[in-house]
Amino acid sequence: METNRRTVLAAAAAAGITAASLGGTAHATGGRTPVKSLFGKLADGTKVYRWSLANGGTKLKVLSYGGIVQSLEVPDRHGKYRNISLGFDNIEDYVASSPYFGALIGRFGNRIAKGRFSLDGTAHQLSVNDGENTLHGGAKGFDKRIWDVEPFTKGSDVGLHLHYTSIDGEQGFPGTLKVKVTYTLTRHGDWRIDYAATTDKATVVNLTSHVYWNLAGEGSGSIYDHELKIPAARYTPVDSGLIPTGELARVAGTPFDFRRTKTVGEDIRVANQQLLYGKGIDHNWALDKGITAKPEHAATLRDPSSGRTLKIATTEPGLQFYSGNFLDGTLVGTGGHIYRQGDALCLETQHFPDSPNQPSFPSTTLRPGQAYRTSTVHTFGA
Ligand code: BGC
Repeated sequence: METNRRTVLAAAAAAGITAASLGGTAHATGGRTPVKSLFGKLADGTKVYRWSLANGGTKLKVLSYGGIVQSLEVPDRHGKYRNISLGFDNIEDYVASSPYFGALIGRFGNRIAKGRFSLDGTAHQLSVNDGENTLHGGAKGFDKRIWDVEPFTKGSDVGLHLHYTSIDGEQGFPGTLKVKVTYTLTRHGDWRIDYAATTDKATVVNLTSHVYWNLAGEGSGSIYDHELKIPAARYTPVDSGLIPTGELARVAGTPFDFRRTKTVGEDIRVANQQLLYGKGIDHNWALDKGITAKPEHAATLRDPSSGRTLKIATTEPGLQFYSGNFLDGTLVGTGGHIYRQGDALCLETQHFPDSPNQPSFPSTTLRPGQAYRTSTVHTFGA
C-alpha cells in the first residue's frame, strides 16, 4: 500500500525524470550546503535567520529563533509538494502568540507539577506558565531563545548543528546546560534529530520537538481522518491539570488504544474523563520498546487523502500525542488560513511528564560528567 519515495525517485531517475519535474527543485535530491536568509528582527533588533535545506526529496526551513521548523515540505502520492507543519510567515507572530509551532522544547518538555521538584535534597522552584504548573521549560523556554546555527554537509547528509547554553538558574533550573541539537536530512529524505547536553550541576533535562503535523498540508483542515498507530500498551493518565497521576494504565478497552491503526477522530468524542481533561487527546504513551540505544518505532501516521505517511522512531521511552485541542481559530498560519481545533497534531518523543516528581518513571536527572543523548528519526513516504 505504501510506496517509499526512494522507490518513486529511483524509478523517475531511470525514466529520465528529475526531482524538479516531480514538483521539487533540482537540489531536493542532491544534498548541498544549507542557505541562510534574514527572516526578521526581534524587538531589540536581534536578527533572526532562516536556513533552507533539502535532501532526498524533503525540504526543511529552520529559524535561529527557537530552532523552529518553519516549513517542512514533502511530496504526496502524485509528487505534489505541500508544507505539512503549522507555522507563521513572520517572526512577530512567533514571538507574540506561537503555541510552540515547530519549536525545540527545553530545558524540560511537558509539565512539571507546580513548577517544583527536589534534587539531592535541594528544592527548586521553576517559572510557572501553565496554571500552577511549568510547561515546556517555563515562560521563556528554549523555544524563545536564539540558537547558534552551524550548517554542515557530511557524506550524503546535509544538516544544521544548533547550539544553546542555558545558564545556571535559568527559569529556575540548576546548572549551566550546554545543548547541541543536530537536524540532519539524509539522502533518503529522513529528518533526524540528535539531542546532546552536558551540565556542571545535577539538573533535569527532557528535550523534544514540537512540530504540528498535518500531512494533507498546513491550513487544509482537520487531522481527524489521519490514521495513527502507536505501539504502546500503556499510557500515563492525568489529573485536571494534565499532570500524570503516576499510574501506568492499560490502553486496552479505552480510546487510547492505538495498537491497531485507527483514525485520530474515531474515539475522540467518546465520553471519557481523560478526554475531557485534555479537551481531546493530550497524553503521554509509554512506548512498549522503552528506552533504546537506537531509534525504534514510536508512531506511524498516514493521511489517506494525499497518501503521505510519517514514521517516527526514537530512543526515548515516551510519546506525547496532542491532537491540537487548544487551536481556537485565532491564529493565521503560513498559507493565510486560520488554525482551528484539530487542524494538526503533535507527536513529541520524550521522557514522561513530571518525571522529576515521579520516582517510578524513567529518570530525567543529568549529572556532571554524564552525556545526555537522545535521537528521533522522521521518515516520510507517499
Ligand atoms: C501539550 C499541550 C499544550 C501544547 C502547547 C503540548 O505539548 O501537551 O497540553 O497545550 O503543547 O501548545
